[in-house]
Amino acid sequence: MMDMPRFSVSYGRIRLRPLLPTDHPSFATYRADPQVARYQGFAPYTAADAAAFIEANAQTPIPPEPGQWVQLALTRAADGVLLGDCALHRQAAEPRFGEFGITLAPAWQGQGYAREAVLALLGYCFEELVLHRVLALTDVRNQGCVHLLESVGMRREAHFQHNGWYKGEWCDELQYALLATEWAQRSTPASPDEKIGAPNP
Ligand SMILES: CC(C)(COP(=O)(O)OP(=O)(O)OC[C@H]1O[C@@H](n2cnc3c(N)ncnc32)[C@H](O)[C@@H]1OP(=O)(O)O)[C@@H](O)C(=O)NCCC(=O)NCCS
Repeated sequence: MMDMPRFSVSYGRIRLRPLLPTDHPSFATYRADPQVARYQGFAPYTAADAAAFIEANAQTPIPPEPGQWVQLALTRAADGVLLGDCALHRQAAEPRFGEFGITLAPAWQGQGYAREAVLALLGYCFEELVLHRVLALTDVRNQGCVHLLESVGMRREAHFQHNGWYKGEWCDELQYALLATEWAQRSTPASPDEKIGAPNP
C-alpha cells in the first residue's frame, strides 16, 4: 500500500500537506515566474532549482525543528490541484516563535485561497504547535501581501528600513505578528469567506 503523507491541515476550500516530487511540474512553473519572485528573496527558478528544492525540503520534518524552515504544499481540497506553497519556520533561539511565508501561482491569486491558507497555518501554529507568537515579513511595496496579512487580523508592528538585499537593491520590509492570546480572542468567522474582525468584546 502507498505511504500517504501524514501532515494535513484544511480550512475552507484549501488543504496544506507535504510538498511531494509529483508537485514538481506546477511548482517549477510558478516559481519560474518573475512576477511571483518579484518581492521574494529568491530569483526565478529553473526546473533543476525546483527539483533540488523539493528534494532538500523532503528532509525537513513537519513541524520543523527549531531553526528550520519547511515548505508545505497549498492545494485545493476538492481536487488536489497545487495552488501554491507556504513556508513555516520555528526560531532557533525561541521555538515558540514562528514565521511563515506564502506564494500562490498567478492563476490562483485574487480568489481568497491565500487567506484561507494563512488562517489554516495560523490555526495549526497556535492550536496544534501551541506557538506563542507568529510573524510574517513583507516588502512594503507588496500590496497583495500587505492586504492579505491585514485581512487575517495580523498586527503591523514594524517598518524595517533596508532590511534585505533583494533583486539588486535594499528593500524596506513590514513586520506583521499575532500572539496566541490575540488568535484566541479573534472574532471567529462564521464561514471561511467572512473577514476576521476585531476581537470579541
Ligand atoms: C501575496 C499573495 C499570496 C496574496 O494572494 P491573494 O491571491 O491576493 O490573496 P487571497 O487569496 O486572499 O485573495 C484576496 C482576494 O480574493 C477575493 N476573494 C476572497 N475570498 C474569496 C472567495 N471565497 N471566493 C472568491 N474570491 C475571493 C477577493 O477579491 C479578495 O480581495 P479582498 O480581500 O480585497 O476582498 C499573492 O499575491 C502571491 O502569491 N504573490 C506572489 C508571491 C509573494 O509575493 N508572496 C509574499 C511574499 S512576502
